Amino acid sequence: MILTQESIQEIKEKTAKYPRKKSGILPALTVAYRQLGYVDDEIYHEISKVIKVPYVEIAEAATFYTMFPKKSRGKYLIQVCHNISCALLGADSLISYLEDKLGIKKGETTADNLFTLISVECLGSCSTAPMMQINHDFHENLTREKVDGILETLRSEA
Ligand code: FES
Repeated sequence: MILTQESIQEIKEKTAKYPRKKSGILPALTVAYRQLGYVDDEIYHEISKVIKVPYVEIAEAATFYTMFPKKSRGKYLIQVCHNISCALLGADSLISYLEDKLGIKKGETTADNLFTLISVECLGSCSTAPMMQINHDFHENLTREKVDGILETLRSEA
């Protein structure tokens, strides 16, 4: 087992609150992600055994959401919105700019394990497009200069 006894216990406690076992899938994935920083096939199987829900249902839920990656991510997860408002205001060029600045492609993590770059669907901040979320913080009305400043600040804080 890769999940610790503490995680397994927490998963059991959380899922016991729900009348349907399936309702415990997301809480279980959240516990596993918090422990490991990723959730892959092996973990789907472990969760399946713990909460007694078929593996395929765990995998379906985990791969539907962007918050349960199969590989661990950098300290800062940069999620750039590529949906319509942001796309109209330059999201693609912003993503290319970030790829160049960080020396990685979308979906990759920098060699120093500091930044992971992904693009995502609408984050609900369309009126301040283009925008991105880094960990829990929104950065809005982005320009290349703003992006430079944000990356510089994060690097200095790391
Ligand atoms: S389209 Fe980008 S936040 Fe909604």
